[in-house]
Amino acid sequence: MQSGDEIQSFKVRRGRTGPTSVAARGRLWPRYGIDPPYDGLVTGRPLVLEIGFGMGEATALMAAAQPEVDLLAVDVHPAGVAALLRRIEAAGLSNVRVVDGDAVPLLQALPAGSLREVRVFFPDPWPKARHAKRRLLRPSFAALVASRLAPGGCLHLATDWPAYVEHALAVLEGWDTEVVARGGRPLTGYERRARTAGRAATDLLARPPQPS
Ligand SMILES: C[S@@+](CC[C@H](N)C(=O)[O-])C[C@H]1O[C@@H](n2cnc3c(N)ncnc32)[C@H](O)[C@@H]1O
Repeated sequence: MQSGDEIQSFKVRRGRTGPTSVAARGRLWPRYGIDPPYDGLVTGRPLVLEIGFGMGEATALMAAAQPEVDLLAVDVHPAGVAALLRRIEAAGLSNVRVVDGDAVPLLQALPAGSLREVRVFFPDPWPKARHAKRRLLRPSFAALVASRLAPGGCLHLATDWPAYVEHALAVLEGWDTEVVARGGRPLTGYERRARTAGRAATDLLARPPQPS
């Protein structure tokens, strides 16, 4: 029986990646990229995972603002991966590692309790009812995130879709959830376009129930 858990939260984008992106990737991947089986990510420093970094604008700014934190950034979008690699180099960042792929197998490969925070900024909203099963935030994903968070760790979700907030609160039932001000989170590329279209962001912080 299909549980729906195997449905991907993204559509692989077609089209050629430009020569600048290909060259950046070839040059910088050995320095900043991490391939399966994702060894060596847990160093003893606080580890934060950002899922779906897009073009990486906010990722690079957050990494520069938090040099004491190791940032693991994952996306499936080749042009975005190349863009983030170039931002890391340009800003001289040494605390970012990039994964090109689906966040779910990455999370599965990480040790339990290894993450201080999981950031999901503007997940694809999949607004049509028949596509809702594609949403990244679903019960199996929430359980996986909960298992990989360290005690006291949190999921930080931002979305411009009110229906996604409702969806998140339903999926995260039993978690300690609060709507927060965006605080120090930099504006993301997607968020800038959403604002122009008149859609404001909601930020949600969620902590999983602690085992009793
Ligand atoms: C709407 S975009 C937002 C990008 C960025 N966070 C921003 O705010 O500008 C969502 C991103 O999530 C990525 N994504 C979706 N599902 C993913 C998954 N399972 N693993 C990794 N990345 C994923 C997509 O490729 C896309 O870049």
